Order: sequence, then C-alpha cells, then structure tokens
Amino acid sequence: MPEQSIIQARGLEVAYGETVILRDAGCDIYPGQITCIVGGSGSGKTTLLKSFFGLIPVSQGRIRLFESDLASLGEADYNGTLRRLGVLFQNGALLNSLTVFENISVPLEQHTGLPAEIIRRMVEVKLSLVNLPGTEDLYPAELSGGMKKRAALARAIALDPEIVFLDEPSAGLDPQNSAALDRLMISLRDRLQVTLVVVTHELDSIRRIADRIVFVHEGTVLFEGSLEDAEAADIPALNAFLEPAGERAR
Ligand SMILES: Nc1ncnc2c1ncn2[C@@H]1O[C@H](COP(=O)(O)OP(=O)(O)OP(=O)(O)O)[C@@H](O)[C@H]1O
Ligand SMILES: [Mg+2]
Repeated sequence: MPEQSIIQARGLEVAYGETVILRDAGCDIYPGQITCIVGGSGSGKTTLLKSFFGLIPVSQGRIRLFESDLASLGEADYNGTLRRLGVLFQNGALLNSLTVFENISVPLEQHTGLPAEIIRRMVEVKLSLVNLPGTEDLYPAELSGGMKKRAALARAIALDPEIVFLDEPSAGLDPQNSAALDRLMISLRDRLQVTLVVVTHELDSIRRIADRIVFVHEGTVLFEGSLEDAEAADIPALNAFLEPAGERAR
C-alpha cells in the first residue's frame, strides 16, 4: 500500500465566471515524491495547482491538505498551513528593485521575526542550496535566466516548506539550465525530503524528475501514476501527449 497522501483532491469543480475550467478533477500527491502535473496548454494545470492550496476557490469537491480539509480551516489555521508551503508561480519573478538577498529575506522577515544576522545566514544557506552562493548583493537584472529561476526557488524554500509547488519552472530556459533546475529539484527531494508538485509539459524534464504524473486533459484528470504505467495505458490523449508526432521516430 502506498503511503498516505499529503494532498488528496476529489471531485473538484472550478469555474471562472460562467466558464467551467475543472470538472470532477481529483488526484493524490504523495510525500517525498516529485509529482508532475502534465498536459497540454490550457488544459487546467495551473488552475488545479492553485486549487490545492486554496488560491482558487472550488465550487464543488474537497481538498485535504496535510491532515485538514481545506474548506474547514479558519483563517489562522489556513495561514499556518500556507507557511508550510512554498510556491514558484508561472512567470513568477523576483522583484527587480530588490537585491537577491532582499528578495529572499522578505518572507523570512515577514514570518519569523528572527534577528537580522540569523536571517542573513538563512539566506546564505538557501543560496548555497540552489548553487548561487555569494549572489546576495546582485539585482535580478544582473542574473541570467537560469540564475533568476534558481533565486526564485531559493525564495520559495526560504521558510523550509514541506511542499513546494512549481509552475513551469523551466519555461524559457535552455536545455542546460533546465537540466540544472531538474537536478536541484531532485536534490530538494532527496536531501531535504521535500514534496514537489511541478507543473510542466516538457517531456525531457518529466522523464528526469517525475516519480508520478498527473495528466490533466480538458479540465479533468485522465490518469495518475508512474510514467511507466502512463506509457502502457491505453488513453489516446495521454499517448498523444507522451509521444507527439515529431518524437515517434526517436
Ligand atoms: N483568471 C482567469 N479567468 C478566466 N479564464 C481563465 C483564467 N485563468 C485561466 N483561465 C482559462 O482556464 C483554462 C485553463 O487555464 P490554466 O491556466 O489552468 O491552464 P494551463 O494548463 O496551466 O495552461 P498553460 O500550459 O498555458 O499554462 C484556459 O482556457 C484559460 O484560458
Ligand atoms: Mg499554466
């Protein structure tokens, strides 16, 4: 039997105005794993990801996050739950007017009230973890695309989250930087036992990092399980996603 899931979503419906985006969507996320939320553009991956931690309200269904039913949490408990999560949004950028140090120290100052010297040490540790030691005083404009993503990841893990959500983290990166980011995510899983939920549609990345995939198609989850099982599954939309026309000959 698999370990108890850390997120359990069932029967989710999400609508923007009149338009229903997710319908009867559900899946499980397991602790200590990298789960990739995969699917075509506009299928509802970002919407599903945001619904996991209450950023988008659901009109139907339920979400258990850690031990609690999300809908039953009062404000204080919800805020306490949020503190256990880190998020790297799609196109989520660093604040350009702040240095790398300031970008990462903001969540620490807001949430911990620790003395400045401790916060400085914590930022140093996070920057080492993402292979950006010594970049504290640089501004985002002075960083390459890959470095910006890693600094944003350092910010997402500033508060030592148990789950990190990353939405298309390697978008816009070249293959080398994308692979480096993948290695970082794997090391967060293996060294710090962080649970990662990664929205991506990049097959190379999925093959490198995914312990499990959740395949979203037209607002619902058509498959969840290992990549191996996904490849063996007889689900046309999933087969087409995993083996796009140009890749069949490879
Ligand atoms: N705030 C919004 N208001 C109205 N429609 C929205 C909103 N956000 C997303 N949508 C629509 O919901 C659908 C799913 O969007 P979502 O961003 O979840 O897809 P996605 O799978 O993350 O796509 P992508 O791969 O392009 O990031 C799309 O048709 C999108 O246009
Ligand atoms: Mg998206």
